[in-house]
Amino acid sequence: MIAEVARMIGRGTNAGTFCAAAKHRRKLRFIVLLCIAFGSTHLPLFAEGQSNAALIHFDSQAQVFRMDTADMSYVFGINEKKQLQAIYWGKRLSSADTFAMPHSDPGVSSFESSTNTTRQEFVGWGGGLYVEPDLKVTFPDGNRDLVLEYVSHRIDGNQLTILLKDISREVYVELQYQIDASTGVLTRSAQVHNRTSAPLTVEEIASATWNLPHGTDYRLRYLTGRWAGEWSLREQIVQPGKTILESRRGSTGAQNNPWFAIDKNGSNDQEYGDVWFGALGWSGSWQISIEQDATEQVRVTGGPNRFDFGYRLAPGEHLQSPDFYAGYSRDGIGGASRLLHRFEISNILPHAPSPKLRPILYNSWEATEFKVDEAGQEALAEKAASIGIERFVVDDGWFGQRSSDHAGLGDWYVNPVKFPHGLKPLIDKVHSLGMDFGLWVEPEMVNPDSDLYRKHPDWTLNFTGRPRTEGRNQLMLNLARPDVRAYVFQSLDKLLNENDIAFLKWDYNRNWSEPGWPAVAPEDEKKVYIAYIQNLYSILDELRTKHPHVEIESCSGGGSRVDLGIMYYTDEVWPSDNTDAFDRLLIQDGFTYAYAPGVMMAWVTDSPTWVNKRSLSLEYRFLSSMQGSLGVGANLNNWKPEDFATAKKMVTQYKQIRETVQRGSLYRLISPQKGSEQSVTESVSEDQRHAVAFAFLHSSQMLYPFPTIYLRGLKTDAMYRIDALDGKLSKNLPPVASGAFWMEHGVDVELRGDFQAAAFRLEIVER
Ligand code: DGJ
Repeated sequence: MIAEVARMIGRGTNAGTFCAAAKHRRKLRFIVLLCIAFGSTHLPLFAEGQSNAALIHFDSQAQVFRMDTADMSYVFGINEKKQLQAIYWGKRLSSADTFAMPHSDPGVSSFESSTNTTRQEFVGWGGGLYVEPDLKVTFPDGNRDLVLEYVSHRIDGNQLTILLKDISREVYVELQYQIDASTGVLTRSAQVHNRTSAPLTVEEIASATWNLPHGTDYRLRYLTGRWAGEWSLREQIVQPGKTILESRRGSTGAQNNPWFAIDKNGSNDQEYGDVWFGALGWSGSWQISIEQDATEQVRVTGGPNRFDFGYRLAPGEHLQSPDFYAGYSRDGIGGASRLLHRFEISNILPHAPSPKLRPILYNSWEATEFKVDEAGQEALAEKAASIGIERFVVDDGWFGQRSSDHAGLGDWYVNPVKFPHGLKPLIDKVHSLGMDFGLWVEPEMVNPDSDLYRKHPDWTLNFTGRPRTEGRNQLMLNLARPDVRAYVFQSLDKLLNENDIAFLKWDYNRNWSEPGWPAVAPEDEKKVYIAYIQNLYSILDELRTKHPHVEIESCSGGGSRVDLGIMYYTDEVWPSDNTDAFDRLLIQDGFTYAYAPGVMMAWVTDSPTWVNKRSLSLEYRFLSSMQGSLGVGANLNNWKPEDFATAKKMVTQYKQIRETVQRGSLYRLISPQKGSEQSVTESVSEDQRHAVAFAFLHSSQMLYPFPTIYLRGLKTDAMYRIDALDGKLSKNLPPVASGAFWMEHGVDVELRGDFQAAAFRLEIVER
C-alpha cells in the first residue's frame, strides 16, 4: 500500500530530491521554504516503513504513535475513520503502558457531530466541521470540502512524518513531528501538496493543533503590549468560546507575541503544576487560537494568520507551514520557561547547541540620535573602551541623506559629510581600542525622500492607484519581489564586504499597510504574506553563510519582532525602546516567560530616563540590565569620573557572571507582576556550580524588611561561598554554607529606601 502511494505521487524533481536530502540538516525550514520558491514537485516517499526510533514508537497493532522523553509522553493514533486522534499529552508514562486502538467519538447529538467531538491532530475543513480547521482550501470547481485520511508514515530517529490525503481529491498533507530528547519540546508543521490538475487556493493553513487533556479548570497566560510597553504578561480563565492571539501587521508585532502557556488554574504556581506551552516560529502575520469547544475540549491551533490569507497552489506545488513548538512541564510556569529557554539555546539560536555568549556592547542611539559623525563616535568609543565594553555599535544616521527620520532609508552608502573617509577610520579606531564594530540597518524600508524610492516607486507594498500610508515617514519595501530581495541582499553584502563589521542591528520600524503586490497576477497577490517572510529568512541565511563571523540583532522599534522564526537567524533581540530600568523589570519578566535571558539585550541608559523622567542610581540601572545581555546606551560624554569607576566595576562583575545569566536556569523568586514592591530573579549555571541573584525594591514602607530570599536549583549538599556584588548582604550570613542552607534558611539583603537594588553570587567551594 505504502509503496503504491509512493509510485502514485511520483518521485521528485532535482529540487525535490535536494529538499529530501536537506531534511537531515539543521537548516530544514529555510531549505523547505526555498523548495516552495522553486516550485518543487517533491512529495515524501514512504515506501520503506518504519526505521529504528529511540524516542518515537509506532504500535502497528493498536495503530498508536507514542513519543517519550525523560519527563513527557505524547500519544496519538489512527482511528477507524483513518483520522489522527489525540490520546495523551502530559507527564511521562511507563514504558510498560500500552494503548488501545483509538475510536472516534460518536458525537453528542445531530448538532455536535463526530467530526467535531473527536480530538483530531490535524483536520481539514469539510464534513461539517465547526471547530478551528487546520486546513481550508477552495477548488476551482467551487468545491470547498476537504476530508483528510491517514495514508502512511515514516519514522527517522526523532522525526515522524505522516502522509494524509483527501478522501477523493489528490490533495496530500505531510505532517512533520520532531521531538527534542532533552526538553521534550515537540516541533510540528504541515506541508500541503496540490497533485490535482488545476490550481487550488489555500485559505487557511495551520502548523498544528494541540489538544489538551479533557478538563475545564484551565488558565491561559499570554503576552501583550505596544511600543515602549512590550511584554506585559496577562492571564485569563479558559472558557467556552475562543481567544485569538494574533498579528495582522505583516510581522510578529508587540500587541501579542506568538507564545502561550496553559495551566491548571486551581493547582499551579511558579514552580509546581502542569503547564502546556508553545510558541510559533513565524515572523509574519500569525494567529494562535485557544478554543474551548461545545464539549469543553480545549485545543490550540496556530499558524500564519487566516485574515486576508489566500495562497494559490498550482498543480505540483506545495506550501509549507511554519514550525509550531510546544512542550509540557510538571514544574509550574517557571519549569515551562526553563524548558523553552533550554530548547532555544540548544535548537533555535545560531550556533545552537552552543550559541556564542553575548559581548557587552555600547550603542550611541540615546546619546546622539541621528547626529553621528566620525569625531563624535570616536570620542564615545574611547570612553566605552575605558569601562570594558567589547562591541561598539553605530546606530541610525550614518548613511544616505539621513539627518532625521524623514529621509535616507534605502540608500545604504556611507554619508560623505559625516564620514568623509568612509567608516574605515572609525572601525580601525574601535579595533585599536580592543572592541569589535557593529552597525545599524533597516533594510526592509524606504523613505519617499530617498534615491531608491525616486528610482523604484513600484518597489513598495501598494495597491495600484491607492494612497500609500506612511509610518515614521517610511514605506515598506516589498521583499517578496525578487528584484527587491536582490537589492537588499546586495546592499548588505557590499557593506559587509567593504567594512570589517562584526554585528548588524537589524531594525524594522513600522507595520504593513496596503499589502498589495501589483507586479503579479491578482490571484497571486496574497502570496506576499508568505513570500515576504521567506525572502527575509533567506536573506538572513545567505548573509550568515557568506559572512559567518557577523552576528545580528533583531530589533523592531523595540520588541515587535521577537519569535522563534527570526531567532533562528539572529543572535539576540532588542526587547523594548523603553530603557527605564524600573519599567524594564516588568518588561524583562514578561519577556523571559517565552525567551531566554541571554538573547535579551538590555542597555544602561541615562537618568532621568526619557520614558518616565524617573531618576535611578547607576548601580540600580546596571543591576537591572545585568539580568539579561548587558549593554550601555548612556551619553558617556556626560558621565563623571565616579560614574566611569562604577561602570567599570560592574562591567567587570558582569563578565564574571555572564555565562550563568545567559546560559543558566532562571528562577523567578519574587515576581514584579501585579504591582509587587519587590522582585528577585536567580540564575543557576547548568552544572549548578554558580548562581547569581538580583533583588529590587520599589519603596520601603512602615519599617518592613526586604523579604528573605529563598534560593532554588542549588545542590543540596554542596558548599557555596556567597559574595555580594554591591555590599548589601545581611551581616548575619555565614560566608560559606550548603546549598540546603541557602535554599531553606535563605538570604537576607539590606534594602531600604526607594528604587534600591542588590545582587549577590554563589560559587561552589571544594571541601
Ligand atoms: C528604533 C530602535 O528600537 C532604536 O533602538 C533605534 O535604533 C532607532 N530605531 C533608530 O532609528
